[in-house]
Amino acid sequence: MTAKPRLLSGMQPSAASLHLGNYIGALMSWKALQETHDAFFFIADLHAITVPQDPATLRENTRLTAAQYIAAGIDPAKSTLFVQSQVPAHAQLAWVLNTLTGFGEASRMTQFKDKAAKQGSDAASVGLFTYPILQAGDILLYQAAEVPVGEDQRQHIELTRDLATRFNARFGETFRIPEPYILKETAKIFDLQNPQSKMSKSSESPAGIVWLLDDAKTTAKKIMRAVTDADGRVVYDREAKPGVANLLTIFSVLGDVPISSLEEDFAGRGYGDLKKALVEVVESTLGPVRERTLELLADPAELDRILAANADRANEVASATLADVYDKVGFLPRSS
Ligand code: TYM
Repeated sequence: MTAKPRLLSGMQPSAASLHLGNYIGALMSWKALQETHDAFFFIADLHAITVPQDPATLRENTRLTAAQYIAAGIDPAKSTLFVQSQVPAHAQLAWVLNTLTGFGEASRMTQFKDKAAKQGSDAASVGLFTYPILQAGDILLYQAAEVPVGEDQRQHIELTRDLATRFNARFGETFRIPEPYILKETAKIFDLQNPQSKMSKSSESPAGIVWLLDDAKTTAKKIMRAVTDADGRVVYDREAKPGVANLLTIFSVLGDVPISSLEEDFAGRGYGDLKKALVEVVESTLGPVRERTLELLADPAELDRILAANADRANEVASATLADVYDKVGFLPRSS
């Protein structure tokens, strides 16, 4: 029997709810990939504190995020679903990788530049600066062959590959070089109010984000008010008609219908019809996810128990890689 290829991905618990971009860009493919891969999915709470978090809220959001993974179909009996801070090797490997990363190299990360520009360089923490290096550690600890992410994470995966190659060249073969796994059509879901920007937790337009845990009425309202254009034709054109293209993408992925059939079905009909039909499709997907999340949250002790058991599994793999790294860089082992 050949072993299944190893796969790893994660999300930050930086809001109470995940959004439709996270669902389509990440969770949907994670769910499918767990069938064919030895999958590790985690909640990146170490990453979340690179911007200020209220402690009680962070703890709650971490549980909420775990519940949404499970509700969206990540099965903790098939995949290893854990909280990053419960596996100490993440922070430990990040330190070693920090020492191999050039200051200029880290300065070129576009997500850091965007976030730092928003916050001002004095408010931006050094943790935010080294964020991608912690991410590289996440991936390399598990010797992941593939990393399913949205397009926005591509540069971080490139850095991970560079750091792994550098470590291997300096200290001998240690890390597997991971490949990004990016689904083209769904790699980016855009903000409903500002279809030039990706749907993002930190967006300035609350009406542009569809939260997984929003109630059906709120979601319907957001979809019905989504920005389109004055042209009136339901045609996919990312450049000229970004709002309509985004609605068609969401419809196509959630409804599992090709965009070309949607264009045919809605030919000669207005955007109102398209939006009404989309409201149905979104609700039939998100409604059950919302309900299941609430059920899981009703028993937080059971959720915490699942996470603890999964963290044990993750720890086994991660601590073996870390021990190898510590040995290779020349740390003196503690005598037992
Ligand atoms: P995060 O929490 O920002 O996003 C989680 C995942 O959702 C995808 N995503 C989107 N996909 C499509 N359209 C959108 N509008 C959209 N917004 C977000 C992201 O691409 C991502 O896959 N740095 C990571 C977390 C992380 C990680 C890792 C990921 C930490 N360590 C190791 C992979 C491997 C992040 O901020 O994700």
